[in-house]
Amino acid sequence: MNDLDRDQIAAAIGDCAIGCNLAVVDATTSTNDLAVQLAASGAPHGTLVVARRQTAGRGRRGRSWWHDPDRGIALSVLLRPTLPAHCAPELVHVAALAVDDAVHGCRVDSRIKWPNDIVIEIEGTWRKLAGMLVESSLRGSAIERAIIGIGCNVNTPANAFASAAGIRPTSLAAVSGARHDRAALIGAICHRLEHWLVRWRDDGFAALRPELVRRSATLGQPVRIAVGDRVVDGTAIDIAADGTLVVEDAAGQRVGMSQPLDT
Ligand code: BTN
Repeated sequence: MNDLDRDQIAAAIGDCAIGCNLAVVDATTSTNDLAVQLAASGAPHGTLVVARRQTAGRGRRGRSWWHDPDRGIALSVLLRPTLPAHCAPELVHVAALAVDDAVHGCRVDSRIKWPNDIVIEIEGTWRKLAGMLVESSLRGSAIERAIIGIGCNVNTPANAFASAAGIRPTSLAAVSGARHDRAALIGAICHRLEHWLVRWRDDGFAALRPELVRRSATLGQPVRIAVGDRVVDGTAIDIAADGTLVVEDAAGQRVGMSQPLDT
């Protein structure tokens, strides 16, 4: 029985600008796809799409995203920010802070695995609670619209996840031992997204960077990067002023990367 109720989601969103226009559907291929369609027919900034079931959920780097219909969250937010195109890659960090806040609201001490995973350390290994997929469309030198897709593992038992590529999944309930209200969590994500979008719009990425550094699960960790046609193993040492990850290789050389090679 799927208990994701539209009225409960609307109540949790309240008068937040994110979620001002709400579509809750029983099934779709991907909430990002549906958000793109709604955007094409003129849906406003802040439109929220929630699906009880996704049949073709997508992750980064062409991976699929498994969504647990009765116990997970699959949503997308349509944004129409009036910002230059070069700011588009920063949106994933805005979303990461928002989802990390909402997860902390469930008393789960998550971290951000740069750039788009919300993770928690269990017995020395990182396990994934949520992931984000941002798909932007640019017009000239401006962002025309951006879709922030968020998948979160909420009440799924740890043993219900099939093995998949990348970092192993877990859920809020598996970590906290408590069942979490998905409608309330969706509301919290909307409110925190609005908060960080305002900070980002008013003060730029510089306002987000210290929080991203503080909450990072990646800094100080080994990472694998592509430098030209070589694969180099190094250590993540910083998040740069444009959101790229600064990696130091064994020779002490520093390289900025915009996408991780592994996980
Ligand atoms: C990742 O970890 O690689 C990103 C996963 C993003 C999954 C969400 S679920 C809602 C939205 N719709 C999709 O098809 N993908 C995102």
